[in-house]
Amino acid sequence: MMSPPSLLIRRARIILPSGEFIVGDVLTRDRQIVKVSPSEIADEIPTQVIDADGLTLLPGVIDPQVHFREPGLEHKEDLFTASCACAKGGVTSFLEMPNTRPLTINQEALNDKLQRAASKCLVNYGFFIGATTDNLSQLLQAAPTPGIKIFMGSMHGPLLVDPQQILEGIFANGEILIAVHAEDHTRLKQRREEFANIHDVAIHSQIQDNQAALIATRRALKLSQKYRRRLHILHMSTAEEANLLREDKPSWVTCEVTPQHLLLNTTAYEKIGSLAQMNPPLRTSHDNQVLWQALLDGVIDFIATDHAPHTLEEKAQTYPKSPSGMPGVETSLPLMLTAAVEGRCTVAQVVNWMSTAVASGYSIPNKGAIAPGYDADLVLVDLNSRKKVRGEELATKCGWSPFEGWNLTGWPVTTIVGGELAFHQGELNIKTRGRALTFKR
Ligand code: DOR
Repeated sequence: MMSPPSLLIRRARIILPSGEFIVGDVLTRDRQIVKVSPSEIADEIPTQVIDADGLTLLPGVIDPQVHFREPGLEHKEDLFTASCACAKGGVTSFLEMPNTRPLTINQEALNDKLQRAASKCLVNYGFFIGATTDNLSQLLQAAPTPGIKIFMGSMHGPLLVDPQQILEGIFANGEILIAVHAEDHTRLKQRREEFANIHDVAIHSQIQDNQAALIATRRALKLSQKYRRRLHILHMSTAEEANLLREDKPSWVTCEVTPQHLLLNTTAYEKIGSLAQMNPPLRTSHDNQVLWQALLDGVIDFIATDHAPHTLEEKAQTYPKSPSGMPGVETSLPLMLTAAVEGRCTVAQVVNWMSTAVASGYSIPNKGAIAPGYDADLVLVDLNSRKKVRGEELATKCGWSPFEGWNLTGWPVTTIVGGELAFHQGELNIKTRGRALTFKR
């Protein structure tokens, strides 16, 4: 494959690995950052120059939990449309989940996804392998993968793994990261029966309640402690789980939160109905606050969107037929940067939660910082203007957002993947291709 041309970004406000900002130039060559300088870089003749005056340059976002629906569910999304949405949202790498059709539960399915991504993804990609009750031998061999995904509840079919002896077997064998969707299957089943005659979607947060999440998170933590196994808790949603981890979080455990669990709560059902339905469900404003504080205090390590698109037609069905999930890759960075501009956190924290800490948590080499030797995965954002979220302007195939109408700042102007422009001034460069991520063992 030919190397992309060298690229010179001029006069950007650049965030350094220390969290400080300088105004200066960045030069990339052969897919990597080669120079970061507060003064003009003049000694090179780059092929391409971008004037970034007034814009802020950040490391590209690494979104560590997305559902991109290919293969098998392409009427909702596919790897091309999803990666276009990533490029527009400043997401230069993603880690995708195994609940596609066929399920990603063996090396063959993993290879198939990697091949599809190589041919159509504008950004870099990695794919989880899903645990079932009988695929341990596949889990032990799978590569390259960020880790094993376990749905402890809130899933039907082979990806649901609840029996204790199977979970023990997965935690006891092998070394790669285990990422859990922590909702307790037994409690969910019992509460689904209890509330079966209620069709108001708001009941979703009561059926899949805080207790269901807490029980499963506690169970996963115990297993991880027993076997000293690297554990990541996906989309943590409750105050109770945040408090549990604040009390006792082993050094080999990480966890994440979604922008929607920080910024939306059960009041959203009144406004957007089933578009607010996801798993784990939205909680109360108290949960929002406790999660924010846990993130600020370093109890929560990073942000993931859990981008899980469904068509509006599917979402219009009566609960519980309406599917759970919402899109997110196009709005996550502006949502978090808007929070930063409003004083809820700093831009440096956003960069850490959405890029640096993710690269380190998943042992992805050479990503998550703007420094010589790092991959040239970058995003230039505009922190001086605001623009509303508009469903019809989104690249995601589902065409809607739970944040419709929100007036946000920090929208990406340019997204660079491996030194190439994937998105620039409103235009997607659909010829660019990302690469398979690697994970240090
Ligand atoms: O809301 C959700 N939707 N949560 C999940 O864990 C799965 C996802 C989906 O694939 O639709």
